[in-house]
Amino acid sequence: MSERDAEHQQWWRHAVTYEVYVRSFADADGDGVGDLPGLTARLPHLRDLGVDALWITPFYRSPQRDHGYDVADYTDVDPLFGTLDDADALVARAHELDLRVIVDLVPNHTSSEHPWFRAALEAGPGSPERARYLFREGRGADGSLPPNNWRSVFGGAAWTRVPDGQWYLHLFDSSQPDLNWRNPEVGDMFESVLRFWLDRGVDGFRIDVAHGLVKEEGLRDQVVPEGSEPGSAAPTGGSMIERTLRDEPMWDQPEVHEVYRRWRRVLDEYAGPRGDRILVAEAWTQTPESMARFVRPDEMHQAFNFSWLLAPWSAEAFAAVVTGTLEAVGPVGGSPTWVLSNHDVIRHPTRYGGGPRGLARARAATLTMLALPGSAYLYQGEELGLEEVDVAPEHRTDPSWFRTGEAGRDGCRVPLPWDGDAAPYGFGPGTGQPWLPQPAGWGPRSVAAQQADPGSTLAFYRAALAARRTFATTAGESVTDLRVEGAVLSFRRGPVTVVLNCGSEAVPLPPGEVLASSAPAGTVLSRDLPADCAVWLRDPAAR
Ligand code: GLC
Repeated sequence: MSERDAEHQQWWRHAVTYEVYVRSFADADGDGVGDLPGLTARLPHLRDLGVDALWITPFYRSPQRDHGYDVADYTDVDPLFGTLDDADALVARAHELDLRVIVDLVPNHTSSEHPWFRAALEAGPGSPERARYLFREGRGADGSLPPNNWRSVFGGAAWTRVPDGQWYLHLFDSSQPDLNWRNPEVGDMFESVLRFWLDRGVDGFRIDVAHGLVKEEGLRDQVVPEGSEPGSAAPTGGSMIERTLRDEPMWDQPEVHEVYRRWRRVLDEYAGPRGDRILVAEAWTQTPESMARFVRPDEMHQAFNFSWLLAPWSAEAFAAVVTGTLEAVGPVGGSPTWVLSNHDVIRHPTRYGGGPRGLARARAATLTMLALPGSAYLYQGEELGLEEVDVAPEHRTDPSWFRTGEAGRDGCRVPLPWDGDAAPYGFGPGTGQPWLPQPAGWGPRSVAAQQADPGSTLAFYRAALAARRTFATTAGESVTDLRVEGAVLSFRRGPVTVVLNCGSEAVPLPPGEVLASSAPAGTVLSRDLPADCAVWLRDPAAR
């Protein structure tokens, strides 16, 4: 295979993928909730941005208790989002625009409205229907205590009792019962779901909670050292991310990898003229090494590398993540990924302190990430420099808010502003607020406003992605000369030197032609690199 053919086949190795949170991207029918026709109509935005692929959050039939991550039918589109024909039209239009489409698969749990769970409730204890989920007897004399001490990621106990006295496990909301992946029926069902969407032409799957499917046999108690609480908060600040407990009988069990080996064989059957169909893991593993296990040659193609997202604003921390990631992924032949934001975490300009400084840092971290080998994942709205929105309690919808009283993830999910000066800012044809209210004063953040402004964050993203194309596929898979000097991180990737200034003072710049910079438009970078800024320099000799 020529190098060009290999690059086409393995398009994912250097792809930039854009996450579409479907409820909040674009609304065609005016009901205030984003939908598939809305997304299809706005695909040119993604082409113009310069990404290679989009990942769409779940649009299957669902009671929407966790906004689609509670699936009642894996092979149909929820009427809220459109129809199967709309899904076909979306895939076809994306392919016309040379964009690949990754859909979201939720195999850890179904909705409690899924026919399997309804049948399980009806059939009663000991039935084959119950064996598709994790039903157990309670503890205590009358079984009124949960079967073990596990906590839901969304807060509270991970068990709910049903009227006949048994309990079922849900690592998330009680409307999301966990499947029993030790039951072969479950694996067979998901293989048919994979084939259903592959036959419709999707280019891959993002696997939700990929580290959770199989639980340790016996469902023993989690060991909780005295004085600590089992994790109980939402993914914005809780057990999936800031995990203080080391003992995890519910996560990252060795048997989970058998599932992905089977899926990989299925996907490989479908590799075709558009190249590989891929699997990408959402796996909140504890170490880069355990992340790397998901991307061994016969398993998934990629896994989200959350360590970049979790790193504080520090040259040393970023350097440690780069080294740790490449050291873990390299030996298994995997391709690293980098991500700063998604629909579960606080938007990165806000994490970096908000306001102009938060945005400057966000742009700098993004530019640095885009120079690294492997592929990058962007989250809708980051190209507009959107910050986390402070959603008023009466408008919050995240199940973790209802279970814990903590703010939850609504703030990064507010519908996008496309144009105009007032809600819904072109999000849909309706008037007034969409499903989550948009803030006043978002007009200058809209796509239309930023399109017209060469100094906008949108213009910065487009320029960075265009510059990335000039070297990303040819610059090799390694990072060299990685250095931390004071608060400055620098490294080389092929012909490009990257410098990131995490300090509060300007620093002298090495020689080289400026290929891209995160500085505000109009800043001439000649001798110095300002604070909170990153730059790509091309060796004069490399032209
Ligand atoms: C994943 C999703 C998140 C969802 C959870 C349960 O972490 O990204 O949004 O709530 O899984 O499916």
